[in-house]
Amino acid sequence: MPPTLNPTDLSSLRPRLDEVGQGHVLAFWDQLSELQRAALAEQIRSIDLGGLTRLIDEHVRAKPGAGAAGPAADIRPAPFFSRDGRGYDRAAMAAKGAELIRAGKVAAFTVAGGQGSRLGYDGPKGCFVAGAITGKPLFAFLAEWILAAQRRHCTGGAVIPWYIMTSPINHAATVDFFRKHAFFGLREHDVMFFQQGVMPSLEMGTGRMLLNQKGEIALNPDGHGGSLRALKASGALDDLESRGVEHLSYTQIDNPLVRVIDPLFIGLHAFGPGSSGQMSSKMVPKAHAGEKVGVFCTVNGRTSVIEYSDLPAELSAAKNPDGSLKFLAGSIAVHVIGVKFIRSLTSGAGAGGGALPWHRAEKKVPFVDLKTGQRVEPSSNNAVKLEAFVFDAIPLAESSIVLETDRIEEFAPIKNASAPGVADSPDTCTVIQTHRAARWLEGAGCRIPYNAAGEPDCVIELSPLRACEAGDLKTGETPKAIPAGARVAM
Ligand code: UTP
Repeated sequence: MPPTLNPTDLSSLRPRLDEVGQGHVLAFWDQLSELQRAALAEQIRSIDLGGLTRLIDEHVRAKPGAGAAGPAADIRPAPFFSRDGRGYDRAAMAAKGAELIRAGKVAAFTVAGGQGSRLGYDGPKGCFVAGAITGKPLFAFLAEWILAAQRRHCTGGAVIPWYIMTSPINHAATVDFFRKHAFFGLREHDVMFFQQGVMPSLEMGTGRMLLNQKGEIALNPDGHGGSLRALKASGALDDLESRGVEHLSYTQIDNPLVRVIDPLFIGLHAFGPGSSGQMSSKMVPKAHAGEKVGVFCTVNGRTSVIEYSDLPAELSAAKNPDGSLKFLAGSIAVHVIGVKFIRSLTSGAGAGGGALPWHRAEKKVPFVDLKTGQRVEPSSNNAVKLEAFVFDAIPLAESSIVLETDRIEEFAPIKNASAPGVADSPDTCTVIQTHRAARWLEGAGCRIPYNAAGEPDCVIELSPLRACEAGDLKTGETPKAIPAGARVAM
């Protein structure tokens, strides 16, 4: 049993920390106020130091190899339902999904606890502007989709509740933002926020916990895979069950084109041939062999996502006789997850109370230099964050289906700051939004201006309240033509 830590008694703290090689976190103890000491001691108490030491040995001092698959695994491309509806009845599946939504059995679930360090935005990523013309934040795009889906499907009075996972680092700022924006037109009662867990950020190579301040250990959220455990621990799972929700439509916060509630996908997940209704996924065909996205495979017969860095190069590059990639199905981190499945994974009988395997992510983490006491903003990766990934729950399902979709229709994530040649940035997101809107408008008979390079010569931002899919633009007021150089929000 680790000794009880008493903030006023350093003798109980020091030996335990020294024993696990983390004594340096007390380096500035003498300079701390009583309040700061109590807070630091509380932080230390909340960390499972024994468990952490094991994780540091496995993931920080050593770099784990072959990832989820393991060297001797039988890896094959995962089958998927094609976008054109080959082999299944799209209309029937969409109708079944719509019926579940209408009956109040579907909730939206957004993971928004990440730190957005690649984007370099100092705030919850959901507050970041994704509407090039309106200046609308990411949260607004998702909220408007939910409102639109509610109006369309919930004619009997049901609602689509929205569960939003934050982290202790961005929770208060997220809730404040929603209050400031009057919950984007949704009922406050139907938007639930809950916090995920955290892990100490660890110095690369040594595995020592970094200090964010002299009296504060640097913490990072425990990955989107922490969501299953957090759903249970926060009481959100109980809330879902008491509302009669059966399926969670899981999306990330960084993609303003995401189909937050998609009847076809929900129908296939719940009723599609070969689906257990436990956890389903969407994919887009990879743009090229080296694209840095996880790939849907079967590993020893079970549907899984293998990270791009873990998929052997010869498999990434393998081609079918027609020249297409064999391992084609790139993950876009969109899932539907059964509430019963989450309950079973997070109950005693499940995988460690919903704990999924840890992955190592190398990141830049500001820290206090132990020698100088100065806070340092590193210019290159200096830390390992331990994170769990939600897709590691897929192989735990009895069976799991994958649905193909079209990149331009629903995938324009904002991950990186805009710069020439950089993908997944605010700039590339605006371009994809314009491409999709142009495609839909043309389908509704509107003329779009193109430049010499064949790119739309305009910027168009489309609210989900106006159109969630192409056909929606065929009703209501749609312009006959967009002038060259125009910036249009509709
Ligand atoms: P990313 O993997 O893009 O991470 O998250 P990130 O933290 O947003 O950005 P970087 O890597 O620091 O640049 C994908 C989705 O998962 C959520 C994010 O908010 C985003 O919606 N996420 C990620 C969490 O909710 N919690 C986490 O611990 C990590």
